Amino acid sequence: LDSKETKFPIPAGVFAQTVTEVQHYTDRLFRFRMTRPASFRFRSGEFVMIGLPNAEKPVFRAYSVASPSWDEELEFYSIKVPDGPLTEHLQKIKEGDTILMRKKPTGTLVNDALLPGKRLWMFSTGTGFAPFASLIRDPETYEKFEEVIVTHTCREVAELTYSKNLVASVKDDPLCGEFAHGLSLYATTTREDYPFMGRTTDLMTNGKLFEDLEVPPISPDTDRGMICGSMNMLKDTKALLEEFGLVEGSNSKPDTFVVERAFVD
Ligand code: A2P
Repeated sequence: LDSKETKFPIPAGVFAQTVTEVQHYTDRLFRFRMTRPASFRFRSGEFVMIGLPNAEKPVFRAYSVASPSWDEELEFYSIKVPDGPLTEHLQKIKEGDTILMRKKPTGTLVNDALLPGKRLWMFSTGTGFAPFASLIRDPETYEKFEEVIVTHTCREVAELTYSKNLVASVKDDPLCGEFAHGLSLYATTTREDYPFMGRTTDLMTNGKLFEDLEVPPISPDTDRGMICGSMNMLKDTKALLEEFGLVEGSNSKPDTFVVERAFVD
């Protein structure tokens, strides 16, 4: 893309990409897709820094790539914050607009940071679902784990639209469906009536999560975890997984669970 098309020059060391699709879910949530630079490689579950070419020194924020590493485009799932330095502008993007992306992806919510196991748990709240949207579309996840359970908790039912649609489409897709038969979504709300309600932390403590899914409680022999949500959600979920005997891992030292904070503007 030519920098003449934007008001400000494209900073050195960043990719300038074109928006291909935008979908709004609620007044607080939307998803967008953009072109992917031919040279850009990442591991499913990693995040990148995203900005807009609307200032001499653009504001960049961390965004998990929501698309899998094999996808020819890049997808992102975002919150809209009224006075958010980036999202107040980002929420207005349209097809054809330019988005800036720093060149280096990073992150700990990757298959490489976990030891092999039978069952992988992905715990998310709000936009913390984004890295899991990538990982549940990656065949590598199912090569490593027989069962993949994604939990997604939001305040309201409409905020579950992206995860519910995505999991349904993965299971329906002829290509993904073939490897994703071990995938299930456990979606709950906390502030609006829904068949499944409550924080996953409470549902783990009282055992309802395991009863509903018909699986044994979490054990380091069989289970692995990934956590993505708000600061408090990470802290509480991490403490519970540690009570079950899981140990936090990293890229350099893989273990039985990994943690990453969801993007908050
Ligand atoms: P709750 O409605 O009980 O606060 P938020 O929009 O504040 O990030 O919250 C997103 C979802 O995460 C909400 O359903 C919220 O439940 C839930 N949540 C907030 N804090 C925690 C926590 N410490 N552990 C588990 N779930 C949490």
